[in-house]
Amino acid sequence: MNSPPTPSTVTLRTITKMARERRPFACLTCYDATTARWLERAGVHVLLVGDTAAEMVLGLPSTIHMPLDVLIALTAGVKRGAPRTLVMADMPFMSYQVSQDEALRNAGRFMTEGLADVVKIEADASHAPLVERMARAGVPICGHVGSKPQQAGLTGGYSSAGRTPSEAARVVEDAVALERAGAVMLLVEAVPESVTSRILEETSVPLIGIGAGPACHGQVLVLQDLLGITERPPVFAEPLAQMGHQLQKVAEEWVRRVSERIVTGHRFEVRVEGAASAVRPSIR
Ligand code: KIV
Repeated sequence: MNSPPTPSTVTLRTITKMARERRPFACLTCYDATTARWLERAGVHVLLVGDTAAEMVLGLPSTIHMPLDVLIALTAGVKRGAPRTLVMADMPFMSYQVSQDEALRNAGRFMTEGLADVVKIEADASHAPLVERMARAGVPICGHVGSKPQQAGLTGGYSSAGRTPSEAARVVEDAVALERAGAVMLLVEAVPESVTSRILEETSVPLIGIGAGPACHGQVLVLQDLLGITERPPVFAEPLAQMGHQLQKVAEEWVRRVSERIVTGHRFEVRVEGAASAVRPSIR
């Protein structure tokens, strides 16, 4: 196997420069250090520790169930696994809605305890004062507009956004207001490409898209959807592998081997008392 290229450090400056130069950047969700290490080696520019961890990691029914403390701990794990990659953390449901003070404190925890480089909130124009306050405090915010999964309770499920003229205008207004308030990045989910184009015309910070067409500066998908291990991926997420089947095959082979007592790998020999050094050899 070829040794992977050593990636250089990706910062907000790197991403902003790539966006200005129209060089697309890649973003994937990630929830653990081991996977983060491989994604960094692959050259993924941004890792998003999304509240989709509620579904992907914890098996909870939707993203609104993501516990704040758990997501902060997962974010720190991802940054430790991928120290040269820009790590963005999602603020989960009810961690920024109750009051500005609480939102600011929780965003700060994502940066100090969670080692996040950027913090993302699902937002509309009404969040501009909060974003302004966070920016003043030194929190780099990504404003998530368009379809907002944390609002699924209001609409009866995950859905697209910006598909009527008035809805489209609102999504664009949200993006503009959040940038004006100090958001350093925007993310737009599940909107028609015409909405993406208007956001690109009217804002200047890097725009990450998911189900929003190819024009965005960067693209993100949930890693499990890309790997083909989720049961029902969203319509815009085309898997590039069928790793669920591969995983199942490997596990089936393990079950077979265990049942037939086929256990390979190193076997520990009995040592003669006092003959070997007192230092125990490492098993890794
Ligand atoms: O939580 C998440 O993974 C996200 C992406 C789907 C954009 O917000």
